[in-house]
Amino acid sequence: MEKIIPTADRLGDVKEYYFSTKLREVAKLRAAGKDIINLGIGSPDLPPAPEVIEALQAAAARPDAHGYQPYAGRPELREAFAGWYHRFFGVSLNPETELLPLIGSKEGIMHISMAFLNPGDEVLVPNPGYPTYRSATELAGGVIRDYRLQEANDWLPDLDALEAQDLSKVKIMWVNYPHMPTGTAVPDGFYEALVGFARRNKILLCNDNPYAFILTDTRQSLLSVPGAREVAIELSSLSKAQNMAGWRVGAIAGAGEYLQSILRFKSNMDSGMFLPVQLAAVKALSLGQEWYDGLNAHYRRRRELAFRIMDALGCQYRKAQVGLFVWARCPEGKDGFAVSDAALYQHDVFLTPGGIFGDEGTHYVRISLCSTEERLAEALDRLSTLP
Ligand SMILES: Cc1ncc(COP(=O)(O)O)c(C=O)c1O
Repeated sequence: MEKIIPTADRLGDVKEYYFSTKLREVAKLRAAGKDIINLGIGSPDLPPAPEVIEALQAAAARPDAHGYQPYAGRPELREAFAGWYHRFFGVSLNPETELLPLIGSKEGIMHISMAFLNPGDEVLVPNPGYPTYRSATELAGGVIRDYRLQEANDWLPDLDALEAQDLSKVKIMWVNYPHMPTGTAVPDGFYEALVGFARRNKILLCNDNPYAFILTDTRQSLLSVPGAREVAIELSSLSKAQNMAGWRVGAIAGAGEYLQSILRFKSNMDSGMFLPVQLAAVKALSLGQEWYDGLNAHYRRRRELAFRIMDALGCQYRKAQVGLFVWARCPEGKDGFAVSDAALYQHDVFLTPGGIFGDEGTHYVRISLCSTEERLAEALDRLSTLP
C-alpha cells in the first residue's frame, strides 16, 4: 500500500534501531523452533533486589498510586538520586534543582538534543559509540561530527587533534566512559582533560554513565571535576547495575540552568513516571556496596566464558575491559557482520557486529554478559565448531 502522506524529511537517514529489527528476526527464528542464544543486547537477565520488587508491589496496591506524577519526578526519588551520587561518587547535588529523573536514559539523549540544538549545530559523536547519539542528533536537525576512537589510542579521543580543528559550530560532545562498546575504563586525568577542552571551546559535555558500576575498580562521575558543572551534564541509569532495564528509570544530573531547559522539552513529552516505579527506584538507589559486589561476581565469571568464546572465534581482545560486554577484533580478513552472521545462521548464537556502532567498529564483535553461565558455556560449545 502507498501511504497517503510521505514520511517527514526529519527522519532523513534515520533507520529503525538495529536491535529493534534484529531481535524481530531472532524472535522469528525462535518461533520456527531454533534455540537461539542471544548474546546481543545488554539487558540484564538477573532480577532486581527483592526489596525493590516488594516496594513496587506495595506501592501498586495504594489507591493513590495511579494518577499522573510530577513532571520533574517525586521529591523522594530526586533525594534518593542525590544520596546515591553522594555515597558512591562523592558528588553533592541539590535534589530540587540539579537532578531530573528520566524514563530511561535513552530518552534523555533525545531531550538534551532537542533542548540545545538548532539546525546546523554540530555535535561530536564517538565512533564507535552508542547509536542513539547519532540518531538523536539527526532528528534534532544537528550535524554529526564523528570523533574517531581507535584501539591504537586505547579507544580514547585525541583532544589535541580535535582542538586543532574548527570547533566553532560544535555545541555538544557525547562522551561515555566506561565506554560502550569497547569496555574502556576512565583513565586518570581524562575527565579533567575533557572539562578543560569543553571550557576552552564552549561545548556542553554530555557524559552518559550507565556502566559506572559494572566490573569497574572505582566509580567515577564527570561532575566530580572542579568546574565541571558549568560545562557538563551527566546521565545515569538503573537499567544495568540495578537490573531494571525494562522499568525505564534514569536521571540527568547537572546545573539547574541546563536541567530547566531540558524540562521545558520533556514536560511536553511525558506526564511523569508511574509512582510505584519511582518508589521502588528509591529502594534500588539505597542498595549498598554488597549489592554491586554480588552482581560483579556473576559478571566476572561470565566474562571469563565470553573471553573463551572470543578465543574460539579466533578474535583478539584486551583483558582489562569493564562494563557489560566483551569487545574483540575479528580474525584477519573477516569483519564483524560476517562473524555475527556465521554464528547466527550456522550455530544459533547471536553476537553483535561492531559495525553497528560506527565504521571504526567494523572489524569487531561484541558479546553481552547478560546470559547465564550455562548459556554462555553452551554458546562456547556451539561456536567451538565454527569453521
Ligand atoms: C551507552 C548507553 N547509553 C544509554 C543506554 C540506554 O540505557 P537506558 O536503559 O537507561 O535507556 C544504553 C543501553 O544499552 C547504553 O549502552
